[in-house]
Amino acid sequence: MIYLDNGATTFPKPMNVIRTCNNSLQNIGANPGRGGHSLAMKAAEAVYHSRANIASFFGLDDAAKVVFTLNCTTALNTVIKGSVKPGDHILISSYEHNAVLRPVDKLSKSGVSYSIAEVYEGDDERTLNSFRENIKPNTKLLVCTMASNVFGIKLPVERICALCHQYGILTCVDAAQSAGVIPISLYDSSIDYLCLAGHKGLYGPMGIGAVLINCDTLPDSLTEGGTGSNSAQYNQPEIIPDKFESGTGNFSGITGFSAGVDFVRSKGIERIYAHEIKLIQNLYERLSTDKRVKLFTEYPEIGSYVPVLSFNLDNYDSEALAELLSTRYNIAVRAGLHCAPLAHKSKNTLDTGTVRAVPSAFTTQNDINRLVSAIKNIK
Ligand code: ALA
Repeated sequence: MIYLDNGATTFPKPMNVIRTCNNSLQNIGANPGRGGHSLAMKAAEAVYHSRANIASFFGLDDAAKVVFTLNCTTALNTVIKGSVKPGDHILISSYEHNAVLRPVDKLSKSGVSYSIAEVYEGDDERTLNSFRENIKPNTKLLVCTMASNVFGIKLPVERICALCHQYGILTCVDAAQSAGVIPISLYDSSIDYLCLAGHKGLYGPMGIGAVLINCDTLPDSLTEGGTGSNSAQYNQPEIIPDKFESGTGNFSGITGFSAGVDFVRSKGIERIYAHEIKLIQNLYERLSTDKRVKLFTEYPEIGSYVPVLSFNLDNYDSEALAELLSTRYNIAVRAGLHCAPLAHKSKNTLDTGTVRAVPSAFTTQNDINRLVSAIKNIK
């Protein structure tokens, strides 16, 4: 199979990730932080090592600031729902995923308001102004994606977050589609909370994500329960990461997440990006010579896009085209709305959706050639 659905999850996973997950399940397997016996201690050490590794990769000085979650959606829900109260206002961008839009919209039914700042592709100054114009006296939280999961457009998040800090607004960035392809350092950054998916550009397994906490303000906890610490206490501990990690976590997933980070580190994030964006540029150039192909962004210039390309064929429903690519050509892409109706609204593709191709570090030029020739063959 030609797998170009790496935006949904990267596949295949690196061998070191597979080995690490296997080792955790096969040879360690005890519950970290829930017992004093040697295997539980070994599991706790592995979790600590994973936390410290992820912290250092993202420029955090303290492993405890890495809070493991089920996925990026849970990470975002933790920050969003834990940071605001009735009367507060949230600012989001016009390219947010449903992982942001839906919790924010739900809060709007109970007294929290929100505004959507328009993003202008290729014009960061205009985008920044749009955020500025939507700041209100009661704006408490900014939630903004680093790059669109549908169109690959990068947002000037550091500048948006710095602007929000001038107004005392907490900042939360959704890095689901950018971590592992864009270098991110929280050292000296205006990002207060960075939300991660372990299974995309960080090459971990599915079912693991994280919130990286880069400020002194802790959101309220989303769930309460056993943490393995302060067990005599009836109330949820305030210490991190325990405050946000109730219940048994995904132990093998946590260690696999860290192994994925090792994979990215060993390959070099700049090299991964250069490889993937070159493939996407090649795809863009070749599809743009076919009059029937619609491309929905400007040319994906280095630095302005993550390696994600949305397209469609004239008169095709995007889902039908993806199905044809799968059944006739054994090519995996994702079509439809990609759980991001706001992004599709911004590009006027809500009715048709788009077909999305996303490479990974394992994608070859031959994979792109196969997609191009399949598209050219479809009548
Ligand atoms: N959010 C994921 C995607 O973009 C699953 O496909």
